[in-house]
Amino acid sequence: MDDDVTPAPWWRDAVIYQLYLQSFADGNADGIGDIAGLRSRIGYLSDLGVDAVWITPWFRSPLRDAGYDVSDYRAIHPRYGSVDEGRELIDECHAAGIKVILDIVPNHTSSDHPWFVDALHSPPGSAERARYHFRAGREGGQLPPNDWLSVFGGPAWTRVDDASGHPGEWYLHLFDASQPDLNWDSGDVRSEFEDILRFWFDLGVDGFRIDVATALVKAPGLPDLGYPDGAFLADLTLADHPHRDRDEVHDIYRSWRKLADSYDPPRMFAAEAWLDDPDRLSRYVRPDELHTTLNLHYLKSAWTADGMRRAIDASITATSAVGAPTTWALSNHDVERVVTRYGRADTRRRPGVSGPELGLVDEALGRRRARAAALLTLALPGSVYLYQGDELGLADAHVPEHARQDPIWIRSGGRRWGRDGARVPLPWTPEGSSFGFGDDGAWLPQPSGWGTHAVSAQAGDDSSFLELYRRALRLRRSHPALGGTGEVHWCEAPRDDVLVFTRDPGFGCVVNFGSTPAPIALDGRVVLSSDDGAAEGEVPAHGAVWLDLHPRSRV
Ligand code: NOJ
Ligand code: CA
Repeated sequence: MDDDVTPAPWWRDAVIYQLYLQSFADGNADGIGDIAGLRSRIGYLSDLGVDAVWITPWFRSPLRDAGYDVSDYRAIHPRYGSVDEGRELIDECHAAGIKVILDIVPNHTSSDHPWFVDALHSPPGSAERARYHFRAGREGGQLPPNDWLSVFGGPAWTRVDDASGHPGEWYLHLFDASQPDLNWDSGDVRSEFEDILRFWFDLGVDGFRIDVATALVKAPGLPDLGYPDGAFLADLTLADHPHRDRDEVHDIYRSWRKLADSYDPPRMFAAEAWLDDPDRLSRYVRPDELHTTLNLHYLKSAWTADGMRRAIDASITATSAVGAPTTWALSNHDVERVVTRYGRADTRRRPGVSGPELGLVDEALGRRRARAAALLTLALPGSVYLYQGDELGLADAHVPEHARQDPIWIRSGGRRWGRDGARVPLPWTPEGSSFGFGDDGAWLPQPSGWGTHAVSAQAGDDSSFLELYRRALRLRRSHPALGGTGEVHWCEAPRDDVLVFTRDPGFGCVVNFGSTPAPIALDGRVVLSSDDGAAEGEVPAHGAVWLDLHPRSRV
């Protein structure tokens, strides 16, 4: 072994646990997850075997969009703790071998941010307004400056009063009206964000996930988008989109990369980029830009052999063309949990649609498929994002209307259910006022059966979801073929609804998307199965197995 070989950077094949802080663990009995609660559960994360945590925004915020509306990027919201506690948490995670990634929100601030408050008190054309997108309306000011729509519903513009109290300019917000978009042509904005990154990097943070990384730059003149009838914003695949994936956005990330590389060890970035075209996506991870992008293509695919194989191939081809690792995620805090989506007849993720129109959910089926999906995902080369609670097999919870908090629910006038169902606090114990989440209730109501999925109910039970994840993560660390950024070798499958692949050296994975057992088409010893009750030599229906291969079937 050559001692001079530099080990691959950790982020190339890390398993990153997406930690939705307000729903993880509550340390002070106010019903809201916090840093103290998280610190008391670092042991859980080590036992699970993850390499890093991505903590969703913990900054000071009026919380109109769960913290994706930041009013002070250098402060932690008091309900979560203080910057000092944040530093201690980072040190403790590092001591446990866990890296810490935060979530930066550069496309917009909160409307409570001092910059926006100053802008409101400053006249049209002022330097303060130039940090955002303020414009006069059309038709004598009555109509919004262009036709853009908010991702959360309704127009992307809100009108403000001028100094004399009369209706004045409009400002742009691609999300909620409480999330004004920043103007990235402003030098103030660029230098402020580099300074914010430095603040947290200096504190020991290992990287950032970048919220809506594709949206920062807008087309000059803010031209109309021209929506096809009935189109939802996220569906649009325009070649020259006025506020999405503009070429100029890459300059920002080249500059951020230099900043990250100036640290020892270098810090990393993961872009949130909802782009359907894998080639466009790969531009964000060119060698002098960001390190990884979240792979939303994989997350959106239908649970079919063909759909998953195409998503895998397209993702690997696109990222390897620029020398970047691929990442994989089955869900996150913005979409239905994987158990719920996979329990439907149509398993695709359909943007802009949620609620009863999606059809019935067979949770038992969803769980079987989600277990198989866990094995498929963890067998792939590259890095994996695991959304908190997916390791427990949680389904989306039904959140009663009066308790819903998501601006999507509010802005759509109740037409779209929103994302609260995927954000309900974790159950740690089968009993208790909040199933062990804290000592006094939970900020989003947990359903009555939640305790059956509790961590303590699953720990030690070999047939549980949690133990499947723990075993898979242990094997992923110890097996020489797993992790890393090697190749996937597809093999001939016994049926169209089965995928078979191997990885070198000596590893095989067979995934059965069908509703009857399939023969294991590889010669090897099963080391992990999504269903322990499977018959010898078979992959269970809606199941998957991992194998140690006998030498003769290695590719
Ligand atoms: C993406 C985040 O994941 C989502 O939760 C948020 O609402 C939007 N960006 C706006 O910041
Ligand atoms: Ca709390």
